[in-house]
Amino acid sequence: MSTYAISQPEIIVGLDLGTTKVSAVVGEVDSDGITVLGVGNVPCRGLRKGVVSNIEWTVRAIREAIDAAQTMAGVEISTVYAGVAGSHIRSQVSDGVAAISGREVTREDLERVLEGARAIPVDSDRMILHALPREYVVDNQDGIRDPIGMSGVRLQVRVNLVTAASSCVQNVIRCVERCGLNVADVVLEPLASADAVLSEDEKEIGVAVIDIGGGTTDVLLYADGGIAHTSVIPAGGNNITSDVAAGLRTPMAEAERLKRNYGCALCRMIADDEEIEVPGVGGHTPRRVARRVLSDIIEPRVEEIFSEVRRRIEDTGLLEQVCSGAVLTGGSVLMEGMVECAEEILGMPVRLGFPVGVKGIVQLVQGPQYATGVGLVGYGARQIAEAHARGDMLESYPPEAMPVPAATAQGRKGFWSWLRAAF
Ligand SMILES: Nc1ncnc2c1ncn2[C@@H]1O[C@H](COP(=O)(O)OP(=O)(O)OP(=O)(O)O)[C@@H](O)[C@H]1O
Ligand SMILES: [Mg+2]
Repeated sequence: MSTYAISQPEIIVGLDLGTTKVSAVVGEVDSDGITVLGVGNVPCRGLRKGVVSNIEWTVRAIREAIDAAQTMAGVEISTVYAGVAGSHIRSQVSDGVAAISGREVTREDLERVLEGARAIPVDSDRMILHALPREYVVDNQDGIRDPIGMSGVRLQVRVNLVTAASSCVQNVIRCVERCGLNVADVVLEPLASADAVLSEDEKEIGVAVIDIGGGTTDVLLYADGGIAHTSVIPAGGNNITSDVAAGLRTPMAEAERLKRNYGCALCRMIADDEEIEVPGVGGHTPRRVARRVLSDIIEPRVEEIFSEVRRRIEDTGLLEQVCSGAVLTGGSVLMEGMVECAEEILGMPVRLGFPVGVKGIVQLVQGPQYATGVGLVGYGARQIAEAHARGDMLESYPPEAMPVPAATAQGRKGFWSWLRAAF
């Protein structure tokens, strides 16, 4: 379990806006780690492929999820860490350099060098979401994870710069603020999911996290101890359900039920004599169908998703560095045969990733569909611990008091006013 250098307990709320559900996870963070106090989980159809498409529906679901979470946790929620996803997310490499003139590298130097890496032109309709350090270089020594305390004259950083369409981020913020809540930060969802399911060893030797939700499949790569790539594929479990509904000519709700109860990603894992009952549409009588037929429909879609994941990993040139293999998370990986299918297509060891490293009411966040919500709380905990380490005043957390914007070089206040002015 991670520990955090936090002097007094803080309540942190992760808000996962998924394509099928909104979930709010309330955690109490202290120096011993994260205790889950409450969870609110509400189905939501306000997003399409990870992007808000209906503000009213999304706002309603956020309200319900927050109400449920705060009733269970017995705390009042005013601020959340919100997740963002969608195929508008891009990542690119950028470098920053700062002079340190022979003295020891300090935390301020790290901030300076990261700001330098963020200072690259981005399209006017896009914004920088994260600058994720891959490695630091002090003079000629490269591959450094934490250069604080080292001596040298020149500090360099190589970051993965994650950018997003400003309008998509703005819509997430708008929905949360309409519920009377503050947004402490907007966080890339696969970053949060990875945080919840990976071990430090896996990050160290290289790993791919694949979060297959309802509308999107998010990919995040750790190589050489740092985040080397992230991308979002606009396909997920909802596509599988639509294929089943069309292929078996059954209503969507029945297709979803059949997929969850009898779906399998590999046909050859199913015995020849297994049968399922498929309800008809428009008054047609139910009929019995071989379970293999259901799997015949599902397998090509799952193969398509994993093939696209493989292509994206290959395009980075880092396939060989993903030494510990892939970790599958998100609700869709609960289907039988997903691990086996992924191993065949990706050609690497694969395991399922459930949220780990939290205590409290853990049974409420045990499924892979809660990895993002739990990871958002972990992300918030690290932000607060880092602010403590910098000695920033935190008496009045929420965010206005929290310096260091993850989102932009201009400072958090500058960022929000820029974003508001831009729309
Ligand atoms: N047992 C199961 N078998 C197969 N699929 C399942 C099972 N349980 C849930 N799912 C699928 O998981 C998906 C929802 O997963 P999750 O909650 O991670 O998505 P989300 O976060 O709402 O969406 P996204 O991350 O794509 O925006 C749905 O498509 C659902 O059908
Ligand atoms: Mg999700």
